[in-house]
Amino acid sequence: MNFDTKPFHQPKAQAHILAKPKISKFSSAPASSPLIHRLLHLPPSLHLMAEEAVLGFLEHNEQIKDSGEFAEEKGISHEEIVNVIKSLNGFRFIDVQDIKKERWQLTAEGKTYAASGSPEFQLFMAVPPEGISRTELQKKLGDSVFKIGCQQAIKNKWVEMGKTQVSRKVEHVDDNVKALLIKINDGEALKQEDIDALKRRKLISPQIWKGYSVKKGPNYAPKRRKPATDLTRENLQSGEWKELQFKEYNFSAKGFPVEGGYLHPLLKVRRQMQMIFLQMGFEEMPTNNFVESSFWNFDALFQPQQHPARDSHDTFFLREPSTTKMLPEDYVERVKQIHESGGHGSRGYGYDWKREEANKNLLRTHTTAVSSRMLYALAKKPFEAKKYYSIDRVFRNEAVDRTHLAEFHQIEGLICDRGLSLGDLQGVLHDFFSRLGMSKLRFKPAYNPYTEPSMEIFGYHEGLKKWVEVGNSGMFRPEMLLPMGLPEDVTVIAWGLSLERPTMILYGIDNIRDLFGHKVDLSLIKSNPICRIGL
Ligand code: PHE
Repeated sequence: MNFDTKPFHQPKAQAHILAKPKISKFSSAPASSPLIHRLLHLPPSLHLMAEEAVLGFLEHNEQIKDSGEFAEEKGISHEEIVNVIKSLNGFRFIDVQDIKKERWQLTAEGKTYAASGSPEFQLFMAVPPEGISRTELQKKLGDSVFKIGCQQAIKNKWVEMGKTQVSRKVEHVDDNVKALLIKINDGEALKQEDIDALKRRKLISPQIWKGYSVKKGPNYAPKRRKPATDLTRENLQSGEWKELQFKEYNFSAKGFPVEGGYLHPLLKVRRQMQMIFLQMGFEEMPTNNFVESSFWNFDALFQPQQHPARDSHDTFFLREPSTTKMLPEDYVERVKQIHESGGHGSRGYGYDWKREEANKNLLRTHTTAVSSRMLYALAKKPFEAKKYYSIDRVFRNEAVDRTHLAEFHQIEGLICDRGLSLGDLQGVLHDFFSRLGMSKLRFKPAYNPYTEPSMEIFGYHEGLKKWVEVGNSGMFRPEMLLPMGLPEDVTVIAWGLSLERPTMILYGIDNIRDLFGHKVDLSLIKSNPICRIGL
């Protein structure tokens, strides 16, 4: 269907106008110090100390060249200095520039060598002056140290590898690699060729270090005074208000989202459907009874007692109370008659109609049960043409999957008047569905026990570019209407569809369990667009 939801725009906040400073370089909002302290579990004085150090330094110096060096000089962690810099920059106390430095850090392998020596050194030390057999050496060192150690020690010309024997070529060696790794770890600078060699052996890896250089900003002050957000009684009494600096208003700040009182998408679509029926002059039927008797749900609708839909696989029967107490006896008799032997030109079904079957209570399987009650009530009074609708819940004992739940909502419309034809039904369906934004309809012959003729309704979905089934319809059979006592020339045209299907199409939901039931994500309920269809 050409259902289209429009995004819901929150009205601009009235009650909570939050002051929001302009943010220059950092995209995140400037941190207020108490929050930072809470996040980092720092005593407040540390943040304040860092802030005073930065602002105080800039009072007498043009700039902080490197936040890393600055942090070291002041004995404050670089992380803390960076937090302060970000916050001060947010309020334009300072202007900052990024500094990026490539630093080297030891890989896991590099760390083990820094601790216990390079493999080549370990290997050399394991070779006694008189030599050692390869297998014994390998056993002593382990596979990986032996393998890497051999490669490097041969390259360094430290050892001689015979077929079976390994012997020293020099008397003394230094573990250069270990020394270099320790230097890296201490942050000392190395010659490029040493770096390259360690890099090739994957003993070190680059690490980007980020810091800042800092200058005074347009709002610079040697001390930050927290701007006031409220004018209080105390301010006024003490006269403090004259000196106070107030936070600017931010008129484009969003208000706090309202907690509670959200409408479920099904309710929103239901309201739209209701509006369409009301605009077409329909009256709502009372649907406030989920429990119904088989009589009104099936028998009154000329649905034979052997019909498969009356099986407990498709219908939920009630255990307590299992049967209905009251049915209109004279009408029950006429319904029994029409099922068993027909009448009014019908042959009936020709079976033994059982009262016990009609008495069984169930959860209504369709809202047409309500329609049958309404038409019966109508038939008791002098005839009056009526247009009725209902939208409410029905229950079917079905296997639950992506598109089926054991309960859903039906939308049902009916018109009861003298001499209505199939043409009237098609006309009213065109009217109804074009109000939903679906003006191309097709009909396919179908079967319902209570309508003849019956038609499935297909609508061309402009979005999906295909025909989709949108409902079921028909003219109620005389076998249903005449036992109620409606005049012979009165016909009833009716149609039904589910509420879930258009809602899923409208809200782009492809699994019904995301729309209804315990698996629904509550945030969908809290923030879904408003629904306007066809108006
Ligand atoms: N009761 C039908 C159903 O459950 C819908 C319908 C209503 C069909 C009215 C025809 C007339 O699918």
